[in-house]
Amino acid sequence: MADTGVQPGSVDGIVRRARAGGLAAWVIRLRSTAIVLHLDGRGLLHLGYWGADGGSWNADDYLVDALPDRETAPHFLEGRPLAYPAYGDPSYREPCLVVVQPDGERELALSFTADRLVKHAGRPMLELELRDPRAGVRLMHELLLYGELDLLVWTVHVANYGERPLTLERVLSGSLPLPAGRYDCWMLRGRWGGEFQLERQELGHGAFVIGSRRGISSAEAHPWLAIAPRGETAEHTGRVWFASLAWSGNWTAMVELERGETLAASVGLQPFDFAWHLEPGERFSAPALVLGHAVDGLGGAARRLHDLERTVALPAAHRSVVRPVLYNSWEATYFDVRADQQIALARRAAELGVELFVVDDGWFGARDHDRAGLGDWRVNRRKFPRGLRPLIDEVHRLGMLFGIWVEAEMVNPDSDLFRAHPDWAYLPPSREPLLSRNQLVLNFARADVRAAILDQLHALLTEDGRIDFLKWDHNRPWLHVGWPEHPDRGREAWVRHVLGLYELLQTLRAEFPELLIETCSSGGARADLGMLALTDQAWVSDNTDAADRLPIQYGYSHAHSPSTMVNWVTDVPNHQTGRVSPLEFRFHVAMQGVLGIGGNISRWSEEEVQQAQRLVADYKRIRTIVQLGEQYWLLPPPPVGPCAVQYVSPDRRAVVLLLYQVRGGVGAGVPRVRLMGLDPARRYRRERDGAESTGAALMAAGLPVRFEPTQGWHPAIDYRSALQVWHAIDAR
Ligand code: GLA
Repeated sequence: MADTGVQPGSVDGIVRRARAGGLAAWVIRLRSTAIVLHLDGRGLLHLGYWGADGGSWNADDYLVDALPDRETAPHFLEGRPLAYPAYGDPSYREPCLVVVQPDGERELALSFTADRLVKHAGRPMLELELRDPRAGVRLMHELLLYGELDLLVWTVHVANYGERPLTLERVLSGSLPLPAGRYDCWMLRGRWGGEFQLERQELGHGAFVIGSRRGISSAEAHPWLAIAPRGETAEHTGRVWFASLAWSGNWTAMVELERGETLAASVGLQPFDFAWHLEPGERFSAPALVLGHAVDGLGGAARRLHDLERTVALPAAHRSVVRPVLYNSWEATYFDVRADQQIALARRAAELGVELFVVDDGWFGARDHDRAGLGDWRVNRRKFPRGLRPLIDEVHRLGMLFGIWVEAEMVNPDSDLFRAHPDWAYLPPSREPLLSRNQLVLNFARADVRAAILDQLHALLTEDGRIDFLKWDHNRPWLHVGWPEHPDRGREAWVRHVLGLYELLQTLRAEFPELLIETCSSGGARADLGMLALTDQAWVSDNTDAADRLPIQYGYSHAHSPSTMVNWVTDVPNHQTGRVSPLEFRFHVAMQGVLGIGGNISRWSEEEVQQAQRLVADYKRIRTIVQLGEQYWLLPPPPVGPCAVQYVSPDRRAVVLLLYQVRGGVGAGVPRVRLMGLDPARRYRRERDGAESTGAALMAAGLPVRFEPTQGWHPAIDYRSALQVWHAIDAR
């Protein structure tokens, strides 16, 4: 290929134009990561290297002895680290891009045409453009670089610059090729009541595929994954490549070992039932994909993602401030909410130190049960005879914020909305609709449906006084998805619905800039980076059993910041499991993120109230460190035995240690956990008893996971927990 005309240059010392094997290349160097992109002889883009920084701006330094071309078929690309294989590239890998032209032609012959080193919102960005003039396809890669966060956000756009319409059948967000080797895939799998289970899958020959076809990102698999060399990577050590997809709908991750044992992980919109019509002049953008590499294991990957969420990804209004302690009425009163009873709960909540009082389901329409009311977002006058105002006023008078639950994308057939507009829901043309939780999904691909719902929400948020918080729920997987008004574009509804939801949330946020929003989907089925770009926090599971929550929270906090993870302390016996655990244990588990209370506090004894007051106060002293500091899982939650998680303030002066034992092992020893992330040169003192040590010693010798009282030996009592706070005591 002729010289591309790419001239040397750099943006902020992070990305530079270079040459590899005499052809154009780009070297990106983040805090500890180097990435080398380069062209091949036909103008295709390769991701030749992605890993630890090699200290060099010379692309060839990272590509010594790169694989030679196949002698008899140099154009064959099997085993090559293609950055974004398209249909027609002879790579025999899963393509990222499939475009159908009106004559049925699917072959693409994309070739590099231009690059630009620019600033986007103050950040360096590398743009790489490829074109296929015959098909009229222009492919644009935008690589937004976060040097200090050690992360890259990749966005792909496909434009039709020809004169004929095109159909996009697949547009993934990115693909990460890795050198031949043995790898594991870490993922967050789950189910209702057991979301975010961190699982390891050994990658063998063939493809390993996860994703969702449920309309939402799903509880079954979360759009996050990490690939790590087998046997090398653990929580705190080893190389790991990780990805988080900013998308709340159908998605896929396909990890494939292909010829020569080379591996590629491709992530993006689910190809199942995807098609997008692209008229001349139109452009389609794939969801943004966050990619990173760490040498400090899964924990290192998690901390990078936490930093991204807290400094860039979460809505700016609240991203760097601690979240209020909340109360939620769901498990206390379920659908039986009433004004006087909620006011009584609010008064008790304020006594406990709660800062945000949330009325859950049941306050609207004919919502006495889950068979009616969704779609009618007007206050139920039987339950709230004078509207919400007396409750809202009282909550504000008590010094708390007021929040309310909505499930705005849904409709019950038994609702005024459905009776007036049955065509607004996704319905099958030729059979009875299949209900789930007695409800249907509204077609949010339609602007008129979104506008009508927005009107209702607008009235709700303005009519009865200030509403400070919305819990935005979504409680059924989608079916019958289509768009009868545009039969040729029915498959676009899967994506248009999600984009429509994003647009609606953006509108709400613009109009109510102070509003806090919590994403919820039967628990944590839509707590992804796409929703977290528009909401402030997430309800991660309907399972409020503290013991069950430990692995859920452990998994969630590998992908998302603790400042977004809402956990409630609920009553015992627990409503989901029937288990009984001490109030202190339940609080200590809930303190790992955003503390909430979800029990029937009107019935709590005086002793429980006093204990809860003390524990809420404890939490308020540590929450800045938990929510905005660095998280280290020192011991993951095991079926039997202790577990430990630690948080360090950004200035390394304050350390919070939470220790748990769900099930004690009789005769088991007392493990020591070595603290992490401390300043080795400082002295630290424990709040409780004044014990002292240096940062270096606490990181080397550690502390025993022991619970009071110790009695000289270690009793195997279930549901123990402890909170330790250490402070640096020397000025430096
Ligand atoms: C879902 C949510 C719960 C609760 C109920 C209300 O299940 O996950 O927290 O809000 O809906 O119906």
